Amino acid sequence: MRIGIDKMAFATTNNYLDLVELAESRNVDPNKFTIGIGQDQQAVVPPTQDIVTLGAAAAKKLLTPSLIKNISTLIVATESGIDNSKASAIYIKHLLGLNDFTRTIELKEACYSATAGIQFAKGLVAINPQETVLVIATDIARYGLNTPGEVTQGAGAVAMLISANPHILTLEDTTVAYSKDIMDFWRPLYATEALVDGKYSTNVYIDFFKQTFTRYQQLTGHSLADFAALTFHLPFTKMGKKGLESILGDRKDRVARRLRQQLTASQVYSRRVGNLYTGSLYLSLMSLLQNGSLAAGDRIGLFSYGSGAEGEFYTGILEEGYQKYLNDIETDLAQRQKVSVTEYERLFSSQLGMNSEDIEFDDTDDLSPFILKGQKKHQRI
Ligand code: CAA
Repeated sequence: MRIGIDKMAFATTNNYLDLVELAESRNVDPNKFTIGIGQDQQAVVPPTQDIVTLGAAAAKKLLTPSLIKNISTLIVATESGIDNSKASAIYIKHLLGLNDFTRTIELKEACYSATAGIQFAKGLVAINPQETVLVIATDIARYGLNTPGEVTQGAGAVAMLISANPHILTLEDTTVAYSKDIMDFWRPLYATEALVDGKYSTNVYIDFFKQTFTRYQQLTGHSLADFAALTFHLPFTKMGKKGLESILGDRKDRVARRLRQQLTASQVYSRRVGNLYTGSLYLSLMSLLQNGSLAAGDRIGLFSYGSGAEGEFYTGILEEGYQKYLNDIETDLAQRQKVSVTEYERLFSSQLGMNSEDIEFDDTDDLSPFILKGQKKHQRI
C-alpha cells in the first residue's frame, strides 16, 4: 500500500521585515545577512497571532467539508507551545471544527517533531488505510532583539494530510533516525526566547546529516545519482547549503549540479519567511515542489533536524499531478505588508509570552482567518 503526503498548505503572518533594513539598523554589512546567512526577509508576528492561529490557518487552506468529517487524528508539532499541559492541538481542532471523535495530540523535540508526526501517521494509516491524519508543524522562532540569532527568526505553519494513495509524495520504507543528548539550542520553561550555542549547533546539524545519510546509503545502496533533489531543515538557507556541500565536496558533475540547483529552488520561500522550526523542512519541500525541475517518479530526500538533538533522513517518490495539492505560496507572500525595524521591535515585545494578566489585543489590522484576542482569567481567547 502506498502511504504518504496527500496535500500540503502553508500559512504565515501578514507582516514582514526587510533584513537589509535590519542589518543597517544593527550596523552589520547587509551582505552578511543576505549572502552569509542567506535570508532576505523575515515574518513579523503581531500579538494577535500565535502557533494556534497560524496552525489553524494553514490547515484551513487544505480542508474540505468531507475531510473535516473524516480526519481521525490531529498531530501538532511545535517547540513554541503555549501551555505546559494542554495541547495546542485541542485549540486547533476546535477552530477547524473537526469531529469530536478525533485523536488530538501535541509533539515536541525541537524542529524535528513534525517528522516524528509524519512517521507516526504513516503507522496509523498502515494499520487502518481508511485513516486520514492531519499533521501540523507550527512555530514562532524567537532569539531576541540584537542577538546573533535575530536574523534567523521567523514564523509560520505547514499543514499536511497523511493518507493512503497520496497525491504528492509516497513515503519509502527505509528511514534513519539518530538522537543524542546535546546542548546546542534549548528553551527552559522560564524563557520566552531560545538559548543557543550557534556555531556548535551548525556543526551538530552537519554531523547528524552525515550520520543519517551515510547509514541510509549503507541500508539501501542508493547513491546521490538516485536522487532528483535533497531537501533540508532550513533554520536559515545557508544551513542547507552547508549540509549539501558537506557531502558534495568539490564535485562539479551533472548530479552535483542538479542537486545544487534543486537546493536553490527549495530555499526560495524560507529566504522570505525565516525559520519555521518544525515547519522549515516542509516549507523547503513545498518550495522545491513549486520552483524545482521535477517529474513524477522522482526520489526526494528529506533531512529533518531538531536541536537537543535528533535527526532523521527519509525519502519519498513524487506522484503525478502533485502541483494541484499545494497552496499558492508566492501569491500569499506577495500580499504581505512590510514593517519598519521600529515597528518590528514593538510587535516583538508585545506578544503574550510570559504575561499572566488579563489583556485584550487590538485586532483591527489583522485580516487572518483566526485571531488571538487576548487572555482572561489565564485562558486564551
Ligand atoms: N558578506 C558576506 N558574508 C559574510 C559577511 C559579509 N559582509 N560577513 C559575514 N559573512 C558570513 C560568514 O563568513 C559566515 O559564513 P559561513 O557560515 O559560511 O562561514 C556567515 O556570514 C555567518 O557569519 P558568522 O559566523 O560571523 O555569524 P554569527 O556569529 O552572527 O552567527 C549563526 C551565525 C550561528 C547562524 C547565528 O545566527 C545563530 O546562532 N543562529 C541560530 C542558531 C541556528 O539557526 N543554528 C542552526 C543549526 S540548529 C537548527 O537547525 C535547529 C534550529 O532550527 C534552531
